[in-house]
Amino acid sequence: MKVLGIETTCDETAASVVLDGKHIISSVVSSQIDLHKAYGGVVPELACRRHIDLLMPIIDEALKQASTPINEIDLIAVAHGPGLIGALMIGLNAAKALSFANKIPFVGVNHIEAHLYACLMADPSIPLPAIGAILSGGHTTLVHIKSLGEYEIISETVDDAIGEAFDKCAKIMGLPYPGGPIIEKMALQGTLKHPFKAGQVKTKPLAFSFSGLKTAVLYTYQKIVNPTEQDKNDIAASFQHAAFTDIQKKIELAMQACNTRTLLVGGGVTNSTALKKYLAKFDTHYPEKGLSLDNAAMIAGLGFHKFKGKSDLYSLRAIATLPIV
Ligand code: KG4
Ligand code: ZN
Repeated sequence: MKVLGIETTCDETAASVVLDGKHIISSVVSSQIDLHKAYGGVVPELACRRHIDLLMPIIDEALKQASTPINEIDLIAVAHGPGLIGALMIGLNAAKALSFANKIPFVGVNHIEAHLYACLMADPSIPLPAIGAILSGGHTTLVHIKSLGEYEIISETVDDAIGEAFDKCAKIMGLPYPGGPIIEKMALQGTLKHPFKAGQVKTKPLAFSFSGLKTAVLYTYQKIVNPTEQDKNDIAASFQHAAFTDIQKKIELAMQACNTRTLLVGGGVTNSTALKKYLAKFDTHYPEKGLSLDNAAMIAGLGFHKFKGKSDLYSLRAIATLPIV
């Protein structure tokens, strides 16, 4: 079964053709980083305009690279949440229109579930149950994956997402968006000079909180008169260590609670090489190369499993806060 995947949840416009849920025939991703860089974060209205301009050419390119005309597509899969509402609507309406015009069934999938599926796409033999960790610009979520499609949320962030914290930390030090890759690079030259700590939610020991950590970075940075590159490197290293130690600790607790050592990770932050050291003590599975950041191959792959032989209804809505369960 050839599935066309469509992804427009945030600031990547992407389309992909995937065979039988796992073989990627084409995957085209256009990042909007250049567009949002000047603002230090994603501007929803600008993201939407770019999606409108690029989505159809990118779908055409994905079909062309797969040497597959649209009439040879068996199913269209689209991320209909969670994400920016306007951005989601663009992808969803494109999927509905292509479905209607070409008489191809379509299915809406959850973007977060697709991030976790990206690991199973690389290796379908990963033993379940497992813990899933979605670490991205929009999410910091631990999930108990009982089987594909059967999940229980263990914990989430009560304020900033981890990627967002990286982006804000970078912004505080006058560094460009996205902050993650640059903080990682600077941390290599830095020392753990600052005793930063991520937040702890009293009543929820597994919940995440990064806004206090961000404030600590702000105050520390503001106190330094004429900060040098080394000062910034030290803050980057100390911040990254605090954030990743917290992730490691809470995954450990989740594993104890769910009695598994298997971990599936997804989301942009899992692109970090530094993070791998902190997760090395677990049986950690990463997405296939190129599938950590937002992409449409994971959407098409998951769509194959979600399709039950009948198209979703054209009344399917985009949902900004679509839960995984
Ligand atoms: O999954 P993603 O592409 O988009 C969302 O759905 O949010 O993740 C983007 C996020 C950004 O916040 C970016 O700073 C972060 O992933 N990121 C990283 C790294 N590379 C990307 N964070 C830490 N270290 C990295 N190397
Ligand atoms: Zn994402």
